[in-house]
Amino acid sequence: NKIPEITNEPMKSYAPGSPERAALKAAIDDIQKNLPFEVPCIINGKPVKTGKLAKQTLPHDHATTLCTYHEADEATVAAAIDGALAAKSEWESMPWADRAAIFLKAAELVAGKYRYKIMAATMIGQGKNAWQAEIDSAAELADFLRFGVKFVSELYAVQPARNSPGAWNRTEYRPLEGFVLAVSPFNFTAIGGNLTAAPAMLGNVVVWKPSPAATYANYVCHQIFTEAGVPPGVIQFTPGPPPEVVAQCINHKLFAALHFTGSTHVFRKLWKDIAANVDVYRSYPRIVGETGGKNFHLVHKSAEIKNAVLQTIRGAFEYSGQKCSALSRAYISKSVWEGGFKDLLLSEVAKIKTGNQLEWETFVGPVINRVAFDKITGYIKKAKDAGGEILAGGSGDDSKGFFVQPTVILSKDPKSVTIVEEIFGPVLTLYVFDDADYEKIIDTIDETSEYGLTGSIFSSDRKALIFADNKLRNAAGNVYYNEKCTGAVVGQQPFGGARGSGTNDKAGSMSIFYRFVSARSIKENF
Ligand code: ALA
Repeated sequence: NKIPEITNEPMKSYAPGSPERAALKAAIDDIQKNLPFEVPCIINGKPVKTGKLAKQTLPHDHATTLCTYHEADEATVAAAIDGALAAKSEWESMPWADRAAIFLKAAELVAGKYRYKIMAATMIGQGKNAWQAEIDSAAELADFLRFGVKFVSELYAVQPARNSPGAWNRTEYRPLEGFVLAVSPFNFTAIGGNLTAAPAMLGNVVVWKPSPAATYANYVCHQIFTEAGVPPGVIQFTPGPPPEVVAQCINHKLFAALHFTGSTHVFRKLWKDIAANVDVYRSYPRIVGETGGKNFHLVHKSAEIKNAVLQTIRGAFEYSGQKCSALSRAYISKSVWEGGFKDLLLSEVAKIKTGNQLEWETFVGPVINRVAFDKITGYIKKAKDAGGEILAGGSGDDSKGFFVQPTVILSKDPKSVTIVEEIFGPVLTLYVFDDADYEKIIDTIDETSEYGLTGSIFSSDRKALIFADNKLRNAAGNVYYNEKCTGAVVGQQPFGGARGSGTNDKAGSMSIFYRFVSARSIKENF
């Protein structure tokens, strides 16, 4: 049962007059005409309306509701867990080729029939422009599904081990006993799809709590899984008040794994709660999480200036700096800074179009919600109070939507508050160092890297690149040479970091699949 060759889903251009632009516009209009939607929980394949209502509103227009969703209450979460456990035996004993076909079909639906619908849902609900929505909800989601099938095919092939005379030793991987809890973030629709599909492909059953700020696009994703043939009960959709839904799952005896993407703070809290419950569980739960970041660019005196500037702008400001990988701090050699970096950076930032992300020219749209807006603008104020010089942007407007200008801060202190703390918005703090202090600044970067997600080094001197990379090897799980620190591609750059950024199990690679299986070694005598 060899699977077809897997390649990354190609992007489209969305050029004026292109058929994809017209199709996407029609999908956006369709959502805008028909909102607000009503989103139920989905338990055992059936909609469950708890009547406990919450809203997902639009980041660019907060008076408008995209969907009203039914939050999972205690009885619903209990039914989700029981139903998932009941669905498990048939699901895990289904031949792998049948399960694989379901997820390959889901990928086709994402990339084809529902491409524009799920992109439009992501654009409207999570504030992405067309290109950012495509990278995420069309391409990356399809890639996660297709490459996942490839990795599971390899993992579930019988693993031959050393034979001894008259016997055959083999190791077999099987799904975990119990259920997986997936807790997904707002910033990538694809991540919700992957946090659920990756364990499910292996034969696990999953209870899914999506981010309240991405409920609608994740609901569309769940509908696609259902249409592709994921059976009732295998992925239970339980939007809801995060602490309650999550607590109920992690207090259960058959809680088998947490597959999480979100904040460091919440992940640490869940880890402690799980640890406190260790006597309750049948097996030690797997804890897999991708969390915060404070990602850096380091620009050596030998860097190619134009490339470093353009990559810096994209890394910091695409999707309003709300990718987990987004650039947030840049350390620039003085000769580069004075030799053109500063002027080009400021003239390019001044050209950025901000505003409603549904307009094709918009580069920086809104931030996700009120909490994010207040936090980001609060950090800009802290930077000013600490003597940071605002070189660009510096203010926000929350009258209609949650808009923050792309902001560039120059700090004289390489350990100032905005250069070390996670902000998760379109705010870039720069520090300019003397060319002779390259080694010293590398030590400072490492020392201030409480997180370890992504980082980039810009230099045309290979020795300088390697020197920095060796010293910063724990400060970034994804490192780029002469390119921005965002944009990992499934199957090409496995994604994740260590330190405060997560368990570094590498989404988009084989590694993550090993976390959701339990191995059996079998010795058979002949
Ligand atoms: N995987 C996404 C990126 O690398 C978050 O930008």
